[in-house]
Amino acid sequence: MSQGKFYLTTPIYYASGKPHIGHAYTTIVADALARFHRLVGYKVHFLTGVDEHGSKVVEKATEAGVSPQEYVDSLDPHFRSLWQTLDITHDDYIRTTEERHTTQVQVIFQRLYDQGDIYKRNYEGHYCVPCEAFWTERQLQEGNLCPDCGRPVTWVTEESYYFRASKYAERLLAHIRENPEFIQPATRANEMVNNFLLPGLEDLCVSRSGLKWGVPVPFDPEHVIYVWIDALSNYITALNYATTDNALYTTFWPADLHLVGKEITRFHCLIWPIILMALDVPLPRTVLGHGWLLFDEEKMSKSKGNVVDPNDIVAEYGSDPLRYYLLAKVQLGHDANFSNELFNLVFNVDLANDFGNLLSRTVAMIENFCGGTVGPLGELEPLDLELKTVLEGLPARVREAIEKLDPATALGEIWKVVGHCNKYIDSSAPWALNRQGKKERVATVLYLVGESLRYIAVLLQPFLPQTAPRLFQQLGLGDKPELMTWLSVQSFGQLPPGTIVRKGEALFPRKVVRAEDTKQEDKVVNQNQASDSSPMPEFKPQITIEDFAKLDLRIAKVIACEKVPKADRLLQMTLEVGNTTRTIISGIAEHYSSEELVGKLICIVANLEPAKIRGIASHGMLLAASDDAHTQVILLEPGKPLPTGLRVK
Ligand code: MSP
Repeated sequence: MSQGKFYLTTPIYYASGKPHIGHAYTTIVADALARFHRLVGYKVHFLTGVDEHGSKVVEKATEAGVSPQEYVDSLDPHFRSLWQTLDITHDDYIRTTEERHTTQVQVIFQRLYDQGDIYKRNYEGHYCVPCEAFWTERQLQEGNLCPDCGRPVTWVTEESYYFRASKYAERLLAHIRENPEFIQPATRANEMVNNFLLPGLEDLCVSRSGLKWGVPVPFDPEHVIYVWIDALSNYITALNYATTDNALYTTFWPADLHLVGKEITRFHCLIWPIILMALDVPLPRTVLGHGWLLFDEEKMSKSKGNVVDPNDIVAEYGSDPLRYYLLAKVQLGHDANFSNELFNLVFNVDLANDFGNLLSRTVAMIENFCGGTVGPLGELEPLDLELKTVLEGLPARVREAIEKLDPATALGEIWKVVGHCNKYIDSSAPWALNRQGKKERVATVLYLVGESLRYIAVLLQPFLPQTAPRLFQQLGLGDKPELMTWLSVQSFGQLPPGTIVRKGEALFPRKVVRAEDTKQEDKVVNQNQASDSSPMPEFKPQITIEDFAKLDLRIAKVIACEKVPKADRLLQMTLEVGNTTRTIISGIAEHYSSEELVGKLICIVANLEPAKIRGIASHGMLLAASDDAHTQVILLEPGKPLPTGLRVK
C-alpha cells in the first residue's frame, strides 16, 4: 500500500531555554501528521532538532557561568525527554553543533561564495539580538522597536558577507504565484508578496564578525555564518545533502512540509527558497505558518516569562489529553488562547463524557446484555444503516482533512461519529431491548457501536497514540494488529463476532476543576467558534434566612437510571437518600448518560412538591450548575465520599 514519501520538519528550536508548550504544539502537530501518513502507507521521514548557535546562547551561557557548548549540552536532554513524554516519533533529531551539520554548512557557504552569490561588504543596520534578525528602517515599529518581539533594536556596524537575494526575487515571486500550496495559509503568501517581495528584496547579511559561537566561514575564520543560513540548512544537512552518502537526500528531498510558527514564515518562504534556488535544489512543497498559542491573549515565550510547561500538564492529565486539546481545539494557522480552565473543560466534555463514556457504556452493555461477547450483526434497520453510512465515509473524511493540513477538522469528524454513536445508543435503548428479551437486536446494536469504536480507534492512532491501544484492548482486539490498519477501515464489518470485550479502567476519569486554575475572566468557548460568552444572569430578589431554611437539601446517591421513553432529554433516576429511596425525573440526558450517573453522589432538593412528568411522579430536583441556555449542565457533587441523607446547608 505504498503511497510515496513524506518528509516533514519542525523548526529547530533555540537552545536558549527549556521547551514550553508552544514548542510542544508545533511538534505534536508534526507528529500527528507524520503518524497519519505512516498509517496510510507513506514512507515518512520526520525531522526535529535544536538550533544551538547565535548570540542569545552566548548571553545565556555567560549568565549561567558556563561555556556555550556546556550550556547547549545541558538543554538538549530537556527537548529529547519532552519529545519522549509526548510520544513524538521523529526519525531524526539534529543539533546544529553536530559535526555532520557544521561541515555541510561550510560546504554550502563555500559553494555559494565560489559561484558569486555571496560577497563581502560593509554593513550598518538595525539588529534585534533576541530574534537574531536585521530589520530595515521601514520595518521598525515606533522608530526603534523590533516588529516581532517589540524590544529595542541595536545599531550594528560591521564588515559582513552578503547573499545576493535580489538576484532570485523574480523567480521566487513566480514560484509563489504558480504554486498556491507553497505557502499556507494563503493569507501568509499575500503577506510575503506584498510586504517583502514587491517592495524589493534586499541582499541578506549572512555572517557575523566578533561572534565566536557559530560555524566559521571556511575561507575567513574571523567570521561565523549568520544563524539563519546555519539553521535553515539543517533541513538538508540532516539528509546528508552535501556528503557522498546522500541516499536519504535523494529519497526524501524536497520536503513535503516545513511546519513553522508564523513569526518565522518569512525566513522559510523567502530566505530558504532563495538559498535553495542558488544551490539548484528543488523547493519544499509546502511551508505552513501556524498561529501562536496565547496565554491571557499574549504570546507565550521564554523571553516574556509567561510560559506553560507541558510536563506539568502531562503529569496531571497524561499526554494524549494535551495532544487532543492542541490538535482538536486550535485551528492550524490561527492563534488560540490556552488556559487551564478551558483545557479542563475540553478534557471533561470531549474526552471524559463523550468519548470515554461511549467506550465504557458500550463495553458494560456487551458484558451485561451479551455475556461479554460481541454478537453477530442481524438485519439492519434505518437507524443502523444511517450510522453505518456515516462510519464508512469517516476514513476518507479524516484523510481529506489531514491532506488539507487540518487536524482540527479531522478530529472534529471523529468526534461527530462519537456523538452519533452516543445518540444511536440512546435512541436504540439496548437496556429496554434487553428487558424485552430482544437478544438479536441488542447484539446488532452493540455490534454496530463496537465496530464504530474500532474505526475510531484505528483513526485515532496518529492523534492519541496512548489511548488507541487501550481502546483496542477493551474491545478485545489487543492482539489483532490486522484490525488496526488503514486497510481494515476500508470495509465495514471486520470486527469478528465472538470477540470477547475486556472492561478496563475509564479512559479519561473526569477531573474536578481546581479553584486555583479557574479565572473569572477566562471564557469557556471553543476556540474555533465565535467567542461571545453569554452575560451572567441577573441576581434574584433577596430572601430571608427563614425562606432559605424551608429548603431541605440532601446528599443522595444514584442507584439506578434509565432514559424516559420517547423523551430525548429526560432521565428517570432512582436515588438512595439515607434509608429511603425515591424517583426523580431530570432533563439532563444530553449531558450525562445513565451509566455515568449510576454510583454518583449528588445534591438534591428533597422537599419539593412532587410533580408528574410523562406520567411518572418526580420527588425532588437535582442541583446543577448551568448557563441559561443549558449548553452545559454540571451536577454538583460533594468532593468527598459522604453518607446519603446528609443535610446540605
Ligand atoms: N531557531 C529558530 C527556528 C529555526 S528553523 C530553521 C526559532 N526557534 S524558537 O525556539 O524560537 O522556536 C520557534 C518555534 O517554536 C515557532 O516557529 C513555533 O513553531 C514554536 N513556538 C514558540 N512559541 C510558540 C507559541 N507561543 N505558540 C505556538 N508556537 C510557538 O525560531
